[in-house]
Amino acid sequence: MAVITTKDVTKVYNSDQVPVHALRGVDLEIKKGEFTAIVGPSGSGKTTLLNIIGGLDAPTNGRVIVQGTDLGTLSDSELIDFRLHHIGFVFQAYNLIPVLTSIENVSFVMQMQGKPAQEYNAKSEQLLEEVGLADKIHKRPSELSGGQQQRVAVARALASKPDFVLADEPTANLDSVSSGDLLDMMADLNKKEEMTFVFSTHDQRVIDRARRIVTLVDGQIDKDEVKD
Ligand SMILES: Nc1ncnc2c1ncn2[C@@H]1O[C@H](COP(=O)(O)OP(=O)(O)OP(=O)(O)O)[C@@H](O)[C@H]1O
Ligand SMILES: [Mg+2]
Repeated sequence: MAVITTKDVTKVYNSDQVPVHALRGVDLEIKKGEFTAIVGPSGSGKTTLLNIIGGLDAPTNGRVIVQGTDLGTLSDSELIDFRLHHIGFVFQAYNLIPVLTSIENVSFVMQMQGKPAQEYNAKSEQLLEEVGLADKIHKRPSELSGGQQQRVAVARALASKPDFVLADEPTANLDSVSSGDLLDMMADLNKKEEMTFVFSTHDQRVIDRARRIVTLVDGQIDKDEVKD
């Protein structure tokens, strides 16, 4: 079964006098364990598509189905709950909370899920170890490099045991070494734990590492390539 299915998804923004057709009928199926890059020129609809797949924004038309649940059938509060339990986000808008340490940032989602402290502390520590930050668990974001902050964000995204992780330009503000480290880590989690990743990127080094590359042009899928 597909983890994510979009059926003829369109998105029209009406904020200006002239409507913007950000997505024009996107049909996409992402299976468990895929490592997919969404690429395409600036304004082609990548962030819009990720927002809609993540249930942060509703399509104008069409459907998004995650693990068999049609997001359009959920009430606002059901959708919030669904996101909390099923989807991991590594988004600019979801930056780390500056006053919290790494372990507190990672624990946050599990606390909201109502997990006991002992469980979320142990799990957070384990996740931070997995992303190579065992020695940084009590540091605040301002004490970490950009790459380390992104790794905390990935650990946090994984903390809810999501069905998949969405990342909008995860390497955008990173130097090439940090980008490489982040990608190694994501590829490793993808391989060892079959974690499904869908990320948007402009970064050729990231594109080179993807197993599947979906190219958007003007809000439509122009190419969909799977590497063997
Ligand atoms: N909230 C909004 N209101 C109005 N128009 C929007 C909004 N968000 C995005 N758009 C428009 O929708 C189109 C797609 O934007 P989107 O952010 O999805 O592109 P993108 O592929 O992520 O671009 P980039 O590579 O620059 O991040 C653009 O024309 C953009 O201007
Ligand atoms: Mg974008």
